[in-house]
Amino acid sequence: MLTDKKIIFAVSGGIAAYKAADWIRKLRREGAEVQVVMTGDATRFVTPLTFAALSGQKVYEGMFDLDDAERIPHISLAAKADLILVAPATAQTIARLASGMADDLPSALVLANQSPVIICPAMNSNMYLHPATQANLERLKSYGYQIVDPDSGCLACDTEGPGRLADWSSAKETVYSALSEQDLAGRKVLVTAGPTHEPLDPVRYLGNRSSGRMGFALAVTARRRGAEVTLVTGPTEIPDPPGMNVVRITTAEEMAAEVLELSAGLDVIVKAAAVSDFRPADYSTGKLKKAGAGFTLELRENRDILKILGENKEKRPLPLLVGFAAESNNFIEEGWRKLRDKNLDLLAINDITSDDAGFGVETNRITLLKRNGDQENMPLLSKEDTANLIWRRVTRLLAE
Ligand code: CTP
Repeated sequence: MLTDKKIIFAVSGGIAAYKAADWIRKLRREGAEVQVVMTGDATRFVTPLTFAALSGQKVYEGMFDLDDAERIPHISLAAKADLILVAPATAQTIARLASGMADDLPSALVLANQSPVIICPAMNSNMYLHPATQANLERLKSYGYQIVDPDSGCLACDTEGPGRLADWSSAKETVYSALSEQDLAGRKVLVTAGPTHEPLDPVRYLGNRSSGRMGFALAVTARRRGAEVTLVTGPTEIPDPPGMNVVRITTAEEMAAEVLELSAGLDVIVKAAAVSDFRPADYSTGKLKKAGAGFTLELRENRDILKILGENKEKRPLPLLVGFAAESNNFIEEGWRKLRDKNLDLLAINDITSDDAGFGVETNRITLLKRNGDQENMPLLSKEDTANLIWRRVTRLLAE
């Protein structure tokens, strides 16, 4: 998603400047072109040489360090930028930006620039919590800049509290959102993800191989495109994505209760979860023991959440319903049957027999079926790209 995006990375003089090195590497790995500019103080913490090597570009430190005299760096760099990221942003740099000063290259660049600006504060807790810094941050927000709040924890100055440079995962989401189309702005979206576990006794459950990656990719990309997102997920190892309401459940019945309760007032529901169709008829509070004579398990059918949502759909057009079908045979016929039976607007069929798509892998190859009879075969894509593609189809349907 960051391919060909030009990011100006402004580093100011705090100990967290060393973390900027890793962020620059990650941005480049995601395809961005990163131009580093530094305040004079920042060069005392990390040398420009480090950033030049990591960014693959000359690092600018001063207003007047020109290679060719006709170029004015704060104007020419600002004109090319898709985004300016200030990380770490010290109290001094924040104050400078809030008061519109232009006495060093990063502040002059921010003033001359018209692209989104993201500020990642990092400093001692008392400095961060001081009313002057808080007022300056409020002022930056009023200019439309995005602030990535610092984390709390043990700081370099041996104190505890807020002021530690935010984790990359939060900053990354803010960068991606700033560079994303905002075609889901104002929309409320619910995504389900992962498997469900149906307990049999205190140590055993019935489950499936879903990793949750497709559902999490849908939730994260919807958030980047501006949606207010609720993610209802079964057991998975993936940590909570930032900026959304995450509801963790275990069983299909718990998922049904949450989704049906939360469904009012939504614009879209995407059911990417691999919901268990059955649960054990009885739960044994003690561990089941073998008796040398085999074992027969009686199962009860779980409620079909998507079908219940589809049945209620006749009364109101929203939420738009998007289902997933994991199939190993007769994909397309089964897909059309599920789309009709569950009264869906869109259905994504996964071929679970292929090694590079479906459960537990990073990529997916889906076929999309639309209520109006259209069928689209998608190429092999990352799960994030697949999710973005689904949202593009969803926004078209919302517009219709
Ligand atoms: N689904 C659901 N509630 C269930 C079972 C499935 O909401 N109890 C949803 C899934 O989240 C998915 C869609 O229905 O979006 C299709 O799920 P899938 O397991 O492929 O189909 P089933 O309807 O369960 O049919 P079958 O397993 O017999 O193929």
